[in-house]
Amino acid sequence: MTSEKIQRVGVIGAGIMGAGIAEVCARAHVDVLVFEQTRELAAAGRSRILRSLDRGVSSGKITEREREQAAWRLRFTSDLGDFADRQLVVEAVVEDEKVKSEIFTELDSVVTDPNAVLASNTSSIPIMKLGIATKSPERVIGMHFFNPVPVLPLVELVTTLKTSSTVSQRAEAFASDVLGKQVVRSADRSGFVVNALLVPYLLSAIRMVESGFATKEDIDKATVLGLAHPMGPLALTDLVGLDTVKSIADSMYEEFKEPLYSAPPLLLRMVEAGLVGKKAGAGFYEYAENGRASKK
Ligand code: NAI
Repeated sequence: MTSEKIQRVGVIGAGIMGAGIAEVCARAHVDVLVFEQTRELAAAGRSRILRSLDRGVSSGKITEREREQAAWRLRFTSDLGDFADRQLVVEAVVEDEKVKSEIFTELDSVVTDPNAVLASNTSSIPIMKLGIATKSPERVIGMHFFNPVPVLPLVELVTTLKTSSTVSQRAEAFASDVLGKQVVRSADRSGFVVNALLVPYLLSAIRMVESGFATKEDIDKATVLGLAHPMGPLALTDLVGLDTVKSIADSMYEEFKEPLYSAPPLLLRMVEAGLVGKKAGAGFYEYAENGRASKK
């Protein structure tokens, strides 16, 4: 069976990642339907995307007209039933296996195209666990984007033992030809390539702060100036979200049982305190409304 070119995309969740994915799809001229749980969250998601499009205009990356057209291609719903005609759906909700599995079960019963790509943007949950929540695991795949999505060019593509080659080729063609992303493939192992390398590094930096080895400022300065990283590990943890880093670490620990993936107590306490990073205004650093770090 031949598959049509993907022109109708669904994005589930309009948090940091869902908003970014919806934005790049709308900028690539596809029709985008975004699911959020409530009207309020949908409104917050829409303004997140519009602010990012505005930044695109002020930095000269897109024109006013492109901004307007992208905004027109975005629609929001709180009913997954509206996703029946989608050819690709990218799920980008909270890093929680139960929540994601329930969404995949429902999505599978709603989306009609037998070759639809049902993708998860999970950072660490093995994709097969989401595949088995459906009756058509051949449609389920991992498409892992990076934050900020409009800026970072990578997508990790993760096929399972059940993903069909049609779905895998369709997902790869969309990421590379339509979105202009670079694709790497990873085995279906928790963390895939990038987080398997990154997360132990972030957790080590948190352990350094916790043990008084060095200050957070000096750890970040050391990696920026000594390793030429664009930002230090604690600023990066704030950008990713401490709650998300904790959930990723938990999934990787569950998969590999290696101490290097276990979340340190400081991370647990900060998540419990709601200090989850830039999206909440405070994490290792404090952030003004404009998202810039300010001194604690
Ligand atoms: P976020 O905290 O910004 O957004 C979470 C989203 O999940 C929101 O849209 C929220 O409404 C939704 N949500 C929460 N509970 C829900 C529920 N019970 N049912 C339905 N929706 C629910 O999180 P973020 O950072 O956008 O992460 C989303 C996914 O993307 C996660 O799987 C994460 O691992 C992955 N990811 C995150 C990256 C990052 O740098 N933050 C990078 C790459 C992937």
